[in-house]
Amino acid sequence: KTVALAFSGGLDTTVCVPLLEEEYGYDDVIGVTVDVGQPEEEFAEAEETAEALDLDHYVVDAKDAFAEQCLDAVKANATYQSYPLGTALARPVIAEAILDVAKENDCDAVAHGCTGKGNDQLRFEAVWRASDLEVIAPVREMGLTREWEMGYADEHDLPVEGGNEGVWSIDTNLWSRSVEGGNLEDPGYVPPEDIYEWTLAPGAETELVEIEFEAGKPVAVDGEAMDAVSLIEYLNELAGKHGVGRTDLMEDRMLGLKVRENYEHPAATTLLNAHEALEGLVLTKEERSFKTSIDQQWAEKAYEGLLSAPLVDALDGFIDTTQEKVTGTVTIKFQGGQARAVARESEHAVYSEDAASFNTETVGKIEQADATGVAKYHGYQSRLANDE
Ligand code: ARG
Ligand code: SIN
Repeated sequence: KTVALAFSGGLDTTVCVPLLEEEYGYDDVIGVTVDVGQPEEEFAEAEETAEALDLDHYVVDAKDAFAEQCLDAVKANATYQSYPLGTALARPVIAEAILDVAKENDCDAVAHGCTGKGNDQLRFEAVWRASDLEVIAPVREMGLTREWEMGYADEHDLPVEGGNEGVWSIDTNLWSRSVEGGNLEDPGYVPPEDIYEWTLAPGAETELVEIEFEAGKPVAVDGEAMDAVSLIEYLNELAGKHGVGRTDLMEDRMLGLKVRENYEHPAATTLLNAHEALEGLVLTKEERSFKTSIDQQWAEKAYEGLLSAPLVDALDGFIDTTQEKVTGTVTIKFQGGQARAVARESEHAVYSEDAASFNTETVGKIEQADATGVAKYHGYQSRLANDE
C-alpha cells in the first residue's frame, strides 16, 4: 500500500513518515512538497530531510497558479480579520497538486500532518475527499503534541532541525508568512523581533512606488510589466524593507478556537491598499458599498478553503463586472511600516474635478444654489420625529 504525504520537511510532516509505515502499515510513503513560493532553503531542507528518511520525494511547482490565485484575492480585497489569507489560499492549491501525484502513482491514500485543532486539515480534506482515496491525518488521529513529536524525533533519530522550527510552527508562501506556537500562544507575550524574516523594523525612510492595474489585476510596478510571481516577489522585497505588512491578531478559526497569529505579508498589504484606492476612484458609491459585502463573503470562503463553492462563481460574476473599470495607476508611499495610497489615476474615474472643486461656481447646468432644495429636505423625517 502506498500513501502520498504533504511533506515540508518540518517537524509534523517528518514525524508522519515513520508513523505512516509503523502505525498505519503503509509499505511506501511518497513525500510531496508543493512550491507555492516558499524560500529556497525550505526546499533544500525538505530535500535533505527526505533523503535522510529515504523518502520518495516529489517537488511540484504550483507557483504560477498560486500567484494568480493571490491576485484574484486582490480583486476581492480579501482579508479575514485583517489577515490577507496566505495559508488559506495556498492549501487548496497544494492539496490539488498532491492529489495529482497520488493518482499518478496509484496511491491508496493521501495524508497530511495538520492537527485536529486547526484550519488546514479542513482545507486539505475539502479537496481530497472529492476523490476516493483514503485520507489519513496521523497528528490528529493519534492526538500528537509538538512536544511528543520532538521526543519521538529524538528517539528515532529523525532529521529535524533544532532552533525555531521546533519552537514555532511556520508556514510560508508567496502571499504571507505565518508564525504560531511556542511562547506566541500566550496573547500577552510580545513577539521578539526575530520571528520576522520578511519585514525589517520600520525605519524613517520613505519610498514611492507606482502600481498599474488592468481590470483589477496588478500588471506593472514603476512602469515595468511583471508576471504575477515576479510582481509579488518584487513587492515583498521592497515593502518588506520598509516594515510593511505585519499582523498580530487573535484569529477565530473555523472550529471556533481563538488563536494568536503573527503574519508577514508586505506585497499583499501593498497590493490590497493600492487596489482599494483605485476602486475608490472608479466605482460608484453603491458599487463600493455592495462590493464590501461580496468581498467579505469571498474572503470567508477563501478562509475556509472553499473557493470551489458554487457561491464563489456567483460572487466572481459580480466582482469581475466591477473590475472592468479598475484600470489605472496608484502611487503607494511606504513610510513607518505603512503602505498608503497617495495618488491615483484612471480613465474610468467617476470624478469631476470641476464638479467637486471649491473653486468652480457652475458646472454644466448645476449650480451651488440647486442644492438648497435638497438641504431643505435632508433630515426632514428626523426633525418631524424629534419635534415634541
Ligand atoms: N491560522 C492561519 C490560517 O488558518 C495560518 C496557519 C498557518 N499554519 C502554520 N502552521 N503556521 O490560515
Ligand atoms: C495546524 O493546526 O495544523 C496548523 C494551523 C491551522 O491549520 O490552522
